[in-house]
Amino acid sequence: MKNTISLKNMKYDKEKITMVTAYDYPSAKLVEQANVDMILVGDSLGMVVLGYESTIQVTVDDMIHHGKAVTRGAPNTFVVVDMPFMSYHISLEDSMKQAKRIFQETGAQALKVEGGSPEILTVVQRLTNAGIPIVAHIGLTPQSVNVFGGFKVQGKDQESAEKLIHDAEALQAHGAIACVLECVPKQLAATITSRLTIPTIGIGAGVDCDGQVLVYHDLLQYGVDRLAKFVKTYADVNQVTKHAISEYVADVKANNFPEEKHSYLLDPNTVLPEKM
Ligand code: KIV
Ligand code: NA
Repeated sequence: MKNTISLKNMKYDKEKITMVTAYDYPSAKLVEQANVDMILVGDSLGMVVLGYESTIQVTVDDMIHHGKAVTRGAPNTFVVVDMPFMSYHISLEDSMKQAKRIFQETGAQALKVEGGSPEILTVVQRLTNAGIPIVAHIGLTPQSVNVFGGFKVQGKDQESAEKLIHDAEALQAHGAIACVLECVPKQLAATITSRLTIPTIGIGAGVDCDGQVLVYHDLLQYGVDRLAKFVKTYADVNQVTKHAISEYVADVKANNFPEEKHSYLLDPNTVLPEKM
């Protein structure tokens, strides 16, 4: 299993870090079998597997429920679990309590928090000091979508680009072990990557990040129909699944399933009573 040191070494060896999300036992198993370096139990699970409109409705209990399934499915992969909306904003004490629950109950290797405000820096530092490795996440941070006013690329102009560089450096200084960069111009992601000693993991952030992350269901086209510009798809599980289930329905309607080979038979000398 990768650890905070081996991930940092990958940055220095210029070996790209791969990360894919997973939300349950089978997806975690398959991601591990595909030799992915890190798994993210993202709060994107709200939309992708629970059918919510955004990540805002996701709770700590949701993250624990899914996180436990993932660590069971991928016991040999570095698993990061998202701290969900408002679970690290109410007070430092509450943030510590929620982080303790998620980290202990899931058995993950690290937690992830969004943003780079002074309050978040304090949370990152305190959790790190308590022994919980923290992955940072800046740029487009979906838990703040209602503040941003939509899903928009961040850091395009001078001021916002400089702010993101500053946030990334501050998060590193407060102990973050890696930094997700979401929906930022590729030149900015390259600059941040070269200025940090911790790995950057990009999503919609260009090819110069130290690693890349994609959502499992986007990568596979599985249960999703709208895809962002930054997604590349590698399969069409929607198509395969719909086709397979339609074939099953047609077989059942036509008495083509189950066949003899799917059926059980009585012992040879068993005689069933006639209908009374
Ligand atoms: O929740 C998620 O899937 C994420 C990634 C997109 C980085 O935070
Ligand atoms: Na997330």
